[in-house]
Amino acid sequence: MSQRPLHFNAFIWPNGYHESAWRVVDDPVENVLGLPYYADIARTAERGLLDSIFLADNIAIAEYRATHLPQTQFDPISVLSALAAVTDHIGLIGTGSTTYNQPWELARRFATLDHLSGGRAGWNIVTTVTPLAAANFGETSHPDHADRYARAQEFVDVATRVWDSWADDAVVGDRARGVWAERSRLRAPRFHGEFYDVDGVQPFPRSPQGRPVLVLAGQSSAGIRLAARYAEMAFSGPPSLEAAVAFRTDLHAQAAAFGRHPDEVLVLPALMVTLGGTEAEATAKARRLEDLASAEFRWQNALYTAGLDPDGFDPDAPLPARLWAEPSPSTRADQLYAAARARPEASLRDVARHVMGGAGQTHFVGTPEQLADHVIAWQDAGAVDGFTIMGSTLPYELTAFVDHVVPILQRRNRFRTEYVGSTLRDELGLSRPAAG
Ligand SMILES: Cc1cc2nc3c(=O)[nH]c(=O)nc-3n(C[C@H](O)[C@H](O)[C@H](O)COP(=O)(O)O)c2cc1C
Repeated sequence: MSQRPLHFNAFIWPNGYHESAWRVVDDPVENVLGLPYYADIARTAERGLLDSIFLADNIAIAEYRATHLPQTQFDPISVLSALAAVTDHIGLIGTGSTTYNQPWELARRFATLDHLSGGRAGWNIVTTVTPLAAANFGETSHPDHADRYARAQEFVDVATRVWDSWADDAVVGDRARGVWAERSRLRAPRFHGEFYDVDGVQPFPRSPQGRPVLVLAGQSSAGIRLAARYAEMAFSGPPSLEAAVAFRTDLHAQAAAFGRHPDEVLVLPALMVTLGGTEAEATAKARRLEDLASAEFRWQNALYTAGLDPDGFDPDAPLPARLWAEPSPSTRADQLYAAARARPEASLRDVARHVMGGAGQTHFVGTPEQLADHVIAWQDAGAVDGFTIMGSTLPYELTAFVDHVVPILQRRNRFRTEYVGSTLRDELGLSRPAAG
């Protein structure tokens, strides 16, 4: 291939990423609660030779969401474990919060997935934006942004020590001597930090990838710094080409300062896609989704995804100015505050009308050729290593991507025509980290 290979990650979200998706698809509404639905999507992504599928995690659901969106927030690692059994190659990336888990336990769960899938696990490290999570975990308050990222750094550090606590050659299976594994090849973390104390070894040997692939999607300076330190894949990236090039350049420079090579950090920003045989067809599909979108959902979702509790706000009043005097809960909140401050008289409902919540910042609407051109142009400019594809509807847009965009990229010699190895690290061109 003339360029470095492209990489694609498929974001699986019930009926598709657009909030109106569930209203336009034909599937029975309850299908999104069963394994066959996810198995079909995973197999489609694998048929397209995509690097990975990805499941988000929301550990507190503001109740307005139940009105407007299918609620299917299963435990991602459980779902991915089931999908491991019905796929052979595709990477399985799940989200896990560093604010509401214990590192030994979460490290163990991801390493279990890595073993069961033969080395296909990835962990999307999040610090959890929504303050509603605290009350689900017996906490009285949600740690602020800086505190969450300080914990996250220590969490990942100690998780890594847990994964590395068995040398790769520890298991000897020596029946004659009666030695299953050499105790001398274990290295207990014995970690005592500011936030966590983790003493003992992982309760099974090192996993096929050594460590699951580490992923981050933060956009704040603390989020980018954490990504520079640990992430092997970043899901974030600004919407304009120029800003995306600057983002990737900066991420690579910060990674280099941590002694890492830029090739070890792949940037696959989220891109919602709506495809059509003609541009007019794609535009009509996207317009139908937007026409069904609810202003009531948008203002509540803008607050929720920014890390604010929608139940505490009046949608017919402007956002209260006291918010910008307080520490910002997230980059999304900064963006929402900027939009509100630009129109101080406008109601929250009005300001939020055009704010796309969650991971979706960019909606690509066009033909498969146009999307292939877009992907190649962004890679050639140095903005991305590929994309996290979010079908506006599922499985339809993913199927269209696999059947129509992938072949174009293959013909242009820009995408693999078969899987090259057996682990997610193999597909991504990432080396297997040595223990310790
Ligand atoms: C593609 C993508 C997927 C994400 N998935 C999750 C998720 O599953 N759970 C979550 O709590 N946050 C998720 N986020 C949010 C980010 O992890 C991050 O918390 C958010 O951008 C705020 O962090 P920041 O203030 O550092 O920018 C996702 C973001 C993107 C772009």
